[in-house]
Amino acid sequence: MKASVEGEKVILVPYMREHVPKYHDWMQDPTILEATASEPLTLEQEYDMQVSWTQDSLKQTFIVLDKELVMGDFIPGNPHIEAMVGDVNIYMNDLDDPQMAEIEIMIAELKSRGKGLAQESVLMMMVFAVEKFGIHAFHAKIGESNKASLNLFHKMGFQKISYSEIFKEVTLELPITESTCEKLHQLIGNMVTHSWP
Ligand SMILES: CC(C)(COP(=O)(O)OP(=O)(O)OC[C@H]1O[C@@H](n2cnc3c(N)ncnc32)[C@H](O)[C@@H]1OP(=O)(O)O)[C@@H](O)C(=O)NCCC(=O)NCCS
Repeated sequence: MKASVEGEKVILVPYMREHVPKYHDWMQDPTILEATASEPLTLEQEYDMQVSWTQDSLKQTFIVLDKELVMGDFIPGNPHIEAMVGDVNIYMNDLDDPQMAEIEIMIAELKSRGKGLAQESVLMMMVFAVEKFGIHAFHAKIGESNKASLNLFHKMGFQKISYSEIFKEVTLELPITESTCEKLHQLIGNMVTHSWP
């Protein structure tokens, strides 16, 4: 079963083959590569990456759609490339703690920045991950000079737990307590899930 999650400003949809060319274009931008600590991939490697995202049970990704850019009605299962503006990911890759997820967000389209889309996407992904995978803590690794991202995660209650001198990167954490969970649900009061086979 595949699922999309709709909020007030964004719809999170699965990363589909049709999204790859635009995603690959974004990842040619050196600023984006640096901010997301990514390596450039060829188009073919990006197609392989899209398949690996759908098969790896330790990763979950969604493409972020800006609802203001969706042409016509939103159709679950349709890639809506016209509205894709970024992505949000989690990795459950801590062998000592499988219920810990590292979270990443990117709003690549400049015209869609500063509208609260990153904040809503991260909150929605956290609610999804708590409900689907029982995640009890989120980590975010952020370059020390990435003020926008540091502000974003601090605003949501993440706090610094470590700093890597080598990578010039801080790790922030948000433990999911009962009260954080309640707050997340209040913030994302009108989140709707659309599922299809
Ligand atoms: C960081 C990023 C995801 C923010 O996306 P966005 O949709 O513009 O962010 P939002 O509109 O949801 O902003 C939410 C909060 O983040 C912070 N923020 C966002 N952009 C900011 C900026 N340019 N400068 C300072 N703070 C900023 C603010 O606290 C803001 O809250 P406010 O509007 O009440 O001040 C986006 O700039 C981006 O994708 N950058 C490149 C990739 C990247 O750095 N990803 C993070 C890697 S860990």
